Parts: sequence; C-alpha cells; structure tokens
Amino acid sequence: MSQNKTLPSWRALTSHEVMPEANHDDVARLNVLTHLNYHLGSRVLPGVKQAFEQHVKPAFVAQQQREPETRHEIRQAMLQNGYFQFWSALRRSAMEMRHQTGRIVALRQADALSAQVAALNASAPHSLALDATVQVPANISEVDIHCQPGCYYQEYFEADVTVAASYDVGLFVTTAGLLGGLSDGGGQAIVNWLALQHPDFKPKRILDIGCTIGHNIVPLAQAFPDAEVIAIDVARPCLRYAHARAVALGVSNISFVQANGEDLPQFADESFDLITTAMFWHETSHSAMPNILRTINRLLKPGGLTLHLEQPQYHQMGLYEQFIRDWDTYFNNEPYWGPMHDLDLPAMLSQAGFNAADMFDVGVRAKVDERIFGKREAGESGEDYGRAPVWNAFGLWKKP
Ligand SMILES: C[S@@+](CC[C@H](N)C(=O)[O-])C[C@H]1O[C@@H](n2cnc3c(N)ncnc32)[C@H](O)[C@@H]1O
Repeated sequence: MSQNKTLPSWRALTSHEVMPEANHDDVARLNVLTHLNYHLGSRVLPGVKQAFEQHVKPAFVAQQQREPETRHEIRQAMLQNGYFQFWSALRRSAMEMRHQTGRIVALRQADALSAQVAALNASAPHSLALDATVQVPANISEVDIHCQPGCYYQEYFEADVTVAASYDVGLFVTTAGLLGGLSDGGGQAIVNWLALQHPDFKPKRILDIGCTIGHNIVPLAQAFPDAEVIAIDVARPCLRYAHARAVALGVSNISFVQANGEDLPQFADESFDLITTAMFWHETSHSAMPNILRTINRLLKPGGLTLHLEQPQYHQMGLYEQFIRDWDTYFNNEPYWGPMHDLDLPAMLSQAGFNAADMFDVGVRAKVDERIFGKREAGESGEDYGRAPVWNAFGLWKKP
C-alpha cells in the first residue's frame, strides 16, 4: 500500500438489509477515522520505533547496563516517552470514536433496526435459537472489550440489536477496508485456503464458535451449500443480527445458536467435520480457553479439521514487535490479548486431548475484494500490504 494511498470510502461496503443507514455526516466521520487509523499505522507508528531505538533503548541500556529482556520492560520504559504517548493516545481515541460513531448511527435507528431484524428472523424461525438460560461468561461480561460500549451482549430493550449493528458499521474504520465489502476477509481466507490446499475436503457439518455477527462464517456456508452450519455465540443481540444478516444475504444453511462454547452438551461427540473460530481466542480467559478446546476435541470427528484465525503467538517475534502488538492488552480493554499470545498452543491442544504433534501454523490468503481494492495488476505477487492480506491460522486434522 503506498504511503499516499487513497482509502476506499465507508460507502464502498456492500449494502445489506440490516446494515444501519449512515448519513453524510456519519460517513464523513467514519472516513476521517479510517484515514486517522491508517495514518497512525503507516506514518506515525514508525516514529515510535525510532523513539525506542534512538532514545528509550539507549537510556535503558545506560541505566541498566543491559538491553530490555521482556516486552514489559520495553513498555515501562516507553510509557515515559512523549512520542509513544502521542501515538497511543490518538490510537485509543480513534478506537473510542469508532465506537461512538457506530453507536450514534445504530441508536438513532434502534427501533427500525430491531423491526427489520425481527421481520427477517421471523421469515426463517427455525435457524435462530436463543436461550435465555445461557449466562454471559466473565471474559465477556467483565469488560467492554476493545472499548466497545455494551461489549457484544448488552441489550437496552427487548430485541435490541444496536451493539451488533454498531460493530458492523465500525469494523471498516479499524481495518480501512482490509476485510472486504462484507467484512468477511477472514472467512474468505479460510474458504480460499481449503479450496487450494484441501480441494477434496467437503465438510457436511460445520461449527463456528464466537460468530459475533456471522460475517466470517457466511463465506464458508456459501462455499459448502450442502453443509449444515451451526454458528454459536453467547451474545443475543449479535445472534439476532447475524441471523437476519445471513437471511438478508440469501444464506439459509446456518443455524445461529445461543450457547457457551465451554460446554455444548446439545451436540453429540464427533459430530462435526470442521470447527472454526475467527479472531476469538484473544478474548477468552485462561479458564475458558481450555474448556472450549476440550469441547472442540469432543465434537470433532476423526479425520475432521479444526482451524483458527488468530494473531500470531509472541514467541514467533522480537521483543519490540511483541511490545507494539501488546498495546491492546493495556490500552484497548483487551486484558486477555497478551496472556493468550504468550500461551504454548501445542501444550494447550495436548491438555485438551489432541495430539499436539498434529498442530500446524499457516498463513491463509484472503481473496482480494475488487469492488473495494480494484483489480490486481498483472504479474503482481506476494503480500501487497492490504490488498491481499495474509492471515495467521493454526489448526489440526484429528487423526482417524
Ligand atoms: C472477537 S469476537 C469474534 C469475532 C468473529 N468471530 C469474527 O469473525 O470476527 C468474540 C466473540 O465470541 C463470543 N464469545 C466469547 N466467549 C464465548 C464463549 N465461551 N462461547 C461462545 N461465544 C463466546 C463473544 O460474544 C463475541 O461475539
């Protein structure tokens, strides 16, 4: 992506029937925030590294007679640096403003959105199963994750979907269109990888855990139209919205079910061919994650695949990169982010009953969304900084 790249407008998102209407001022605000995020990431962030290399690290070494040995030491030292403070405060503000803008757009039309969602849901009543007895687990109820007011689950009135609608509106701001017109780049990446690497794998039953608004499971349901797809989440507003959104997109083979992935007694042992999560684990706690992995092991058929899109684990990178990636843990209401990225994933899988030696790490490539990013030039290859993002995934084929 060139430094002078003109970013797509929020209007480039694919319209669907439950996406809130944004007026001129909303779109202007969303676009300014998108550009602010992009500017912070592409122009300001390199200065943070420079501040570390040229000022903070030499001062640390002079004082301690050694280099920093952990990302936490880097963070403690950087907290005093004005350039870091400037970047960090702006990044945090941009995130808060994204959510405020999404909330303004969604709350203004809260009743109309609920009615629209209810009508679509009533047209396919058998594929939405809400269950008021499901408790929102502490990893979700105790914190407004990434500064999202009401997190994923808050309902302010019966049939409220505003937290979900505002999430749908705001994803674009943080990713500058990187996720594509339907914010489904992650799901597209899984579909693409399966088609290229495992063309004979035709799952008949698919489970997605922590589906939120269902944006990343829709491409899989479309790729495997004969499959029965079950998408679970604990958050009622998200499930209502996700179901209506899928119906609006003409996708009828996904059942959205309110359930906690830590224990899914309603599903039989070894009853799924494919179990996925997308950007999920970093929002689960040290108690939730082992339970969910054990559930996946119980539910996955021998010969089946479990695949998880997630940011890379910290041990794969240098200390400075760990420190920058760890920003979310301390400044973006993501308390599980750092602890999760420190985990030994093979050990976690092994504790859940899997054979850890079967685990693989892979980059999965999203299809370029030409409606937003234009056509790729002939001969272009490799990573092109946003137009063909490569996602990190880990997974495991369960031995028959
Ligand atoms: C980061 S979001 C996942 C995003 C989404 N999968 C995507 O493709 O971008 C995490 C989601 O997991 C849900 N969640 C968290 N813990 C859960 C659990 N134990 N069982 C089911 N869903 C859970 C949250 O309500 C939230 O919607």
